[in-house]
Amino acid sequence: MPSLRFCGRSWRKLWILSFVLLWENIEAQIRYSIPEELKEGSVVGNIAKDLGLDVSEITSRKLRIASESGEQYFTVDLAKGELVVNEKIDREKLCGQTTACVLPLRVVVENPLQLHGIEIDIQDINDNAPEFHAKESVLKIYESVSPGKRFLLEKATDPDVGTNSLKSYKLSNNEYFRLNVKELKGGVKIPELIVEKPLDRETKSIHRLVLTALDGGTPAKSGTTLVLVTVQDNNDNEPRFELPVYKASVQENAKPGHVVIRVTAADLDEGLNGEIGYSFHEHTPDSITKTFSIDPETGEISVIAALDYEESKSYTFDLIAKDKGMPELEGNAAVHIDVLDENDNAPDIMLTSLPSPVEENAPIGTVVALLNVKDLDSGDNGKVELVVSPGSPFTLKPSLDKHYSLVTAALLDREDTPEYSVEITASDSGSPAMKTSKIIKVEILDVNDNPPVFSQSAYNVFLRENNPAGSSVFSITATDKDQDKNAKLIYSIADTKFQDIPASSYFYINAENGTIYSMNSFDYEKLKLFQITIKATDQGSPPLSSNATVHVFISDQNDNVPVVIYPSASMGSVSHQRMPRSAKMGHLVTKVTAVDADSGHNAWISYRLAEATDSSLFAVNLYTGEVRTKRSVSEQDDASQRLLIEIKDNGEPVQSTTVTVDILIEDGLHEPVSDFRHKASEKDKKNSKITFYLILSLASVSVLSLLTFFILLIKCARNSRGNASCFRRDSDGYKNPNRNLQIQLNTDGPIKYVEVLGGDMMSQSQSFGSYLSPMSEFSDLTMVKPSSTLDFKDTLRGLDASLPDSAWTFECQQVMYE
Ligand SMILES: *[C@@H]1O[C@H](CO)[C@@H](O)[C@H](O)[C@H]1NC(C)=O
Ligand SMILES: *[C@@H]1O[C@H](CO)[C@@H](O)[C@H](O)[C@H]1NC(C)=O
Repeated sequence: MPSLRFCGRSWRKLWILSFVLLWENIEAQIRYSIPEELKEGSVVGNIAKDLGLDVSEITSRKLRIASESGEQYFTVDLAKGELVVNEKIDREKLCGQTTACVLPLRVVVENPLQLHGIEIDIQDINDNAPEFHAKESVLKIYESVSPGKRFLLEKATDPDVGTNSLKSYKLSNNEYFRLNVKELKGGVKIPELIVEKPLDRETKSIHRLVLTALDGGTPAKSGTTLVLVTVQDNNDNEPRFELPVYKASVQENAKPGHVVIRVTAADLDEGLNGEIGYSFHEHTPDSITKTFSIDPETGEISVIAALDYEESKSYTFDLIAKDKGMPELEGNAAVHIDVLDENDNAPDIMLTSLPSPVEENAPIGTVVALLNVKDLDSGDNGKVELVVSPGSPFTLKPSLDKHYSLVTAALLDREDTPEYSVEITASDSGSPAMKTSKIIKVEILDVNDNPPVFSQSAYNVFLRENNPAGSSVFSITATDKDQDKNAKLIYSIADTKFQDIPASSYFYINAENGTIYSMNSFDYEKLKLFQITIKATDQGSPPLSSNATVHVFISDQNDNVPVVIYPSASMGSVSHQRMPRSAKMGHLVTKVTAVDADSGHNAWISYRLAEATDSSLFAVNLYTGEVRTKRSVSEQDDASQRLLIEIKDNGEPVQSTTVTVDILIEDGLHEPVSDFRHKASEKDKKNSKITFYLILSLASVSVLSLLTFFILLIKCARNSRGNASCFRRDSDGYKNPNRNLQIQLNTDGPIKYVEVLGGDMMSQSQSFGSYLSPMSEFSDLTMVKPSSTLDFKDTLRGLDASLPDSAWTFECQQVMYE
């Protein structure tokens, strides 16, 4: 066994050494040297021999170890006289750090009592490794430490002594630290940690270092401890924003509280050094801090006030992120927020000039008003379109940028629409679009473009004759659609003449209200009709006028007494007639003829026999006035008969007259013609000459006319029976006002008279009414109105039928106009 061999060899050496010592100090003590940690029973030395004692005598001499400690560790083998290890010896326990460890023993021998001192030198062996008190230790170092700074580390201990004691330290490999061993007086070695390189917690916050302590034994023993270097944070990092510039946009209608953007900054430091608070830069203007806020903890930027794109289209400001270290560090970033336009502004229509009234005759394109339009929004939201309400005669004409003129697009008529409310609507192109409308009132000015208008072009007015002068006849009104002066009418009577009579000399008109007054009393028998032209003129410039015709018909009143024209009053107050006694029943004695200047009913004349000598003999035809015998005349009848005939008109009140006819019945009288001739020769000589010529001329005119009719009639009958054109041509001839002819005749007897009327146009054309009466119950009287063509044919036929065997009797008749 190597250890044993080793022990034995060193033990022998010690032995030699001790022997030498003993040799030198013969009386001196015996000294043994042994290494520590020997096993029990190991022999230290032969103590009997070394003391010069015989082994046999040691038992009897009671050799023993007297010292207590000696007793504990050693015993004596009495059989061999050897000192033996009783208990394992730990030098470190026994001697601690003392380099020399000698255990003194006292050995006692009796008989004789002898005391010997023995020294046992206990040699150290490397049985202890260096040891650190703590297996792990923590070292806190601020990252701001400067290189070269030293930190003491725990030292290790090794109970061994000498070369076996602690010799050196070693530090695990690292780039930040190195080890230095400081040697104090007395050889104590203390390890020091030296910072070699700047530390950065943010790069490496914990360094694990292993410190090893080594002793000088062979082989060397070691012990280790773990040194945890925790790098303490220093506020050496500023907060940094993720972006140098943040860009965001927000709708202008964003509600307060709306988060626009969230900014984030990071700080590599820890704890308060890394705790970030956000804020606006201190130079941020109020306009921004009143509009936006930033949450100091989250970095959310939100709107706190209403935005208005039209006021501010964007905002740019700086932010700060600040940590809470000591001192504080800060970082910054810029924020750019664009406000997005919302269509929140309605277009605005503004009148540049007030609408001016426009004349109704204004040409198309006349400018009525100037206006412009504005929309605060931008882009499509600010693009405005203008529309005029449909149906109005106006349109918009763009002029300069966003300026328009409202012009007329059609011809205007104030009488139709005196004022327009033009609605203009402006709408932008936003989505949804915003609209504004404005109503522009355009007044249309009157122009005198309407003449006065009468409700009728002609009016018929009936006025009774004998009206009081100055009475109002009629009221005429015209209207004018224009306004004010242009519609103010003045009435006048146009200075026209009707049948040479200026109307203004008979009538007067109230210029303001059109009431017409007669200035005279009228006589139907003189004038039956007036035609007045009334003119209404407005006050415009130039004035317009129009006229209407008023026909004033004078209506008849029964103001004329019938006048007997045959038997003529000129023949005396009493008419004398003769008749033959041979006359049969129905013999025409005479015919009473009367006329009435009135017309119509007022001129319907009836004849009545009022008184008679013998009323059984004569009768008067109610309508014709013919006096005929009711029976044959007999021999008994008186030769002289007197008749009183009453003549009445049909007016109201009735006007009447009478005529007295004396009839002489003669025997042997046959020829009525000779009778007439005879009678005519009896007439007054003063009248006969004029009458004769008149009759003659009239008769010749009449005969000529009649002849012409007959020729024409025969011609026409031959060519084309009933051809109206013939009669039209004939009648044309009869329209000549100088050839007015009226023929009355009876078909069953001789023509009693022919009446020729030479009146003027007016009296003829207007007197037709008086001929429309039912004249004869026998239809034996045909009446012809000269200007009428319709009945002419019948008249001619009547003439034709009655002429061949008719005797002619002509009576001249004066037209009874006074
Ligand atoms: C017209 O005026 C006159 C005079 O003022 C008056 O007598 C007459 O009654 C008026 N006529 C009408 C139709 O008003
Ligand atoms: C009346 O009117 C007619 C047609 O409108 C015209 O021909 C005539 O000359 C006018 N008369 C007067 C007197 O104005």
